[in-house]
Amino acid sequence: MNFHVLTLFPDMIKQGLNTSITGRSIENGTISLNAVNIRDYTINKHKKVDDYPYGGGAGMLMQAQPVYDAYKAIVQKIKTKPRVIYLTPQGKVFKQSMAKEFALEEDLIFLCGHYEGIDERVLEEIVTDYISIGDYVLTGGELPAMVLMDAISRMVPGVLGNQESGDSESHSNYLLEYPQYSRPEEWMGKKVPEVLLSGDHAKVDEWRLEQSLQRTKVQRPDLYEKWASENEEYFIKKAKKEERKRRNELRKQKQK
Ligand code: ADE
Repeated sequence: MNFHVLTLFPDMIKQGLNTSITGRSIENGTISLNAVNIRDYTINKHKKVDDYPYGGGAGMLMQAQPVYDAYKAIVQKIKTKPRVIYLTPQGKVFKQSMAKEFALEEDLIFLCGHYEGIDERVLEEIVTDYISIGDYVLTGGELPAMVLMDAISRMVPGVLGNQESGDSESHSNYLLEYPQYSRPEEWMGKKVPEVLLSGDHAKVDEWRLEQSLQRTKVQRPDLYEKWASENEEYFIKKAKKEERKRRNELRKQKQK
């Protein structure tokens, strides 16, 4: 995966991704990061990249020319026209499923805006995807671009040590992750749930799924409903199991 970022703050991008898992993946070549300074492409002799909006209004707009020329330089270098993701609160809200889809691309270009936005004409010309990271307004597109690159990287084969861990966790199947515990068995008087020490893998899986469901129901009822509607057989099986348990208990009581 080759990430290209059109930005006025390339250092912010490089520093943001150069550590931890993304840093390691850049170092070993699983992903690459090309942060392009839009300012390097302005034809303005004072290196200006912004101007007042026609029609008036607050703030300055990034001009079309430097953005377009920076974009063209990338396309010329890599000889393909990759998807161009513009980070904006007006875009579609980013989701795990989008991270998986973007991870299938060979190259991606991220366009980071600043000031009050970018001249619409260059957006129309180059942008393929308008993406928001949530319903709030940030000062620029760099943080959202880093959020996307982090989430997409995790879905690129070879980035996570164990591919399974990218799939089994929060949001890959609508459910939030179950709680986890490590040593010691008791900390500040709190014990690790008994079932996790039992060595019974089926029981552990069952407990984890129940925990995920409980959490999701409370924190994200919207996701819970989605999961429930696609997994009706789980509730039927559970109800049958509880009925069997109830009957067994009744039988035992009668035998006494
Ligand atoms: N730029 C400013 N705010 C943003 C947001 N919430 N998502 C994506 N890009 C942005």
